[in-house]
Amino acid sequence: MTASAAGAFIALEGGEGAGKSTQGGLLATHLRGSGRQVVWTREPGGTPASEAIRAIVLSPEFEGLEPRAEALLFAAARGEHAARVIRPAIERGAVVICDRYIDSSVAYQGYGRSLGSGAVRDLSLWATGGLLPDLTILLDVDPVIGLARLSNPDRLEAEPLDYHRAVRAGFLQLAADDPSRYLTLDASCDVDDIARAIADRVDAALSSREAG
Ligand code: TYD
Repeated sequence: MTASAAGAFIALEGGEGAGKSTQGGLLATHLRGSGRQVVWTREPGGTPASEAIRAIVLSPEFEGLEPRAEALLFAAARGEHAARVIRPAIERGAVVICDRYIDSSVAYQGYGRSLGSGAVRDLSLWATGGLLPDLTILLDVDPVIGLARLSNPDRLEAEPLDYHRAVRAGFLQLAADDPSRYLTLDASCDVDDIARAIADRVDAALSSREAG
């Protein structure tokens, strides 16, 4: 099931240091400037309980957290976020911009932790009642470049390079499997050029939803 006709759901995905937050903010400003109601949120997080789960999954204190437990925690945070924030916002006509969503679980837990993409996706689909983005923006970055942009790595960021390479391959596979629902951009390009490409694609997607 996709978002209702009233609002829209845009996910921003990518590996570490891809610039999702910067681009999320620029997209929110662009859409608000054209008079749209925007909810800019992030995962894991977005509700008090989901922020509490975020503190667990990102804490270096829980190094070695069992991969299935990790996948369940991300899915639990997402179920709460989808029910309390994302779905209601779409239903009242907002454009929801979500920094990470189901694809992050598929890439980080499915590919990175080798839990399998199907099982991890199904878990999140169950958790969210099947809520999927209308469009996913994938900011693709070589992990050697992305990780170099970070300071104070959290538990996931501190994983070895091969883990982050598997995550990147997972994201690219998801985009290749369903190209009409993805915009994949090279995150090493100029920030303003990336922002323009995202704004153009999102504007087109919103216009075609409204026309149809
Ligand atoms: P965050 O600081 O939000 O990273 P970023 O700025 O790169 O988005 O931390 C989120 C971390 O959690 C990031 O390393 C990706 C990871 N993650 C998963 O492993 N699975 C998931 O389902 C989600 C949403 C995030």
